[in-house]
Amino acid sequence: MLPTPPTTDSHETGYLAADGFVDELVAELNDVRAVHDRLVLAAGGVQTAAWAQNVWIAPQRIPIASIADGARALRAKQRNWALYATAFHRRAALIEAKLPPFRPKPLAFPNPPPSAPIGSWTLLAPDVLLAAAHCTSPFRHGEAYFVEDRQAPPNRAYLKLWEALTRLGLHPQPQDRCIDLGASPGGWTWVLAELGASVIAVDKAPLDAGVSRHPRVEFRRQSAFAIDPRAIEPLDWMFCDVACYPRRLLDLVSRWIAAKAARRIVATVKFQGPTDLAIQREFSSIPGSTLQHLFHNKHELTWMWMRP
Ligand SMILES: C[S@@+](CC[C@H](N)C(=O)[O-])C[C@H]1O[C@@H](n2cnc3c(N)ncnc32)[C@H](O)[C@@H]1O
Repeated sequence: MLPTPPTTDSHETGYLAADGFVDELVAELNDVRAVHDRLVLAAGGVQTAAWAQNVWIAPQRIPIASIADGARALRAKQRNWALYATAFHRRAALIEAKLPPFRPKPLAFPNPPPSAPIGSWTLLAPDVLLAAAHCTSPFRHGEAYFVEDRQAPPNRAYLKLWEALTRLGLHPQPQDRCIDLGASPGGWTWVLAELGASVIAVDKAPLDAGVSRHPRVEFRRQSAFAIDPRAIEPLDWMFCDVACYPRRLLDLVSRWIAAKAARRIVATVKFQGPTDLAIQREFSSIPGSTLQHLFHNKHELTWMWMRP
């Protein structure tokens, strides 16, 4: 029997939730139609979804007559396919085995991610593929793996900043002036200094000795909230990873924006206790900003702002 031709369901979008945050994703989306493990299908085009690690754009439901037929249908669309198997694992693996090998390498920061599109697919039924040739993340399933440095940085927080800057497609340049609030022990400050920027690192706790010896790092041991942004010479970047309630962070960044004290801000919104969707919306509604759960985030979101 010949398979019926592919049908485009342009009124549907797939959202792959960050691991452990399906409930948050479902809560922020409108018109959810189905949930397959971490893959949430919602009606209509792409919605803003901070808790989605990857978004499947205009996925197609493709009836298939056999394993070979499924592989053919995918190969006909493009080369790089990432399987997200929620059921029918064995059959999906057999289809995957007939696709060109796709093994993305960890990225060496600050190189940009490869630009070749990565499609995502799953089996909704033994004879129905769901496949999106285009997804929003340049990483397979949004998983941003890097060539790690296990020697120099004092902790693994540097990976979160590498991912944020990679997503932004921008990073501090040599001679840029940065401030890093909540800097200790110094993973983010290490990233910025290694990029050639000068960094004022601020924390109530001590900075790692190796990081504080860096010639481009000035450490100020004080509260981040005591700094008056109107009193400092305008900076290129403000970074903030302070452990504090989201409301307090929102007040802080609002003061920095109002004072025009930095051209760009990268800050971590940390949820203590339940996720606060209302404050999440307040961050998202600030013009010039994006809010995203990064692969290296925990129960937190990364908020990135550029002066519009
Ligand atoms: C998650 S850690 C930051 C990790 C850092 N980004 C790194 O890469 O190493 C949170 C930091 O916020 C700091 N912190 C908490 N309250 C603060 C305040 N009021 N002012 C400055 N730092 C604060 C803590 O001392 C802690 O070092």
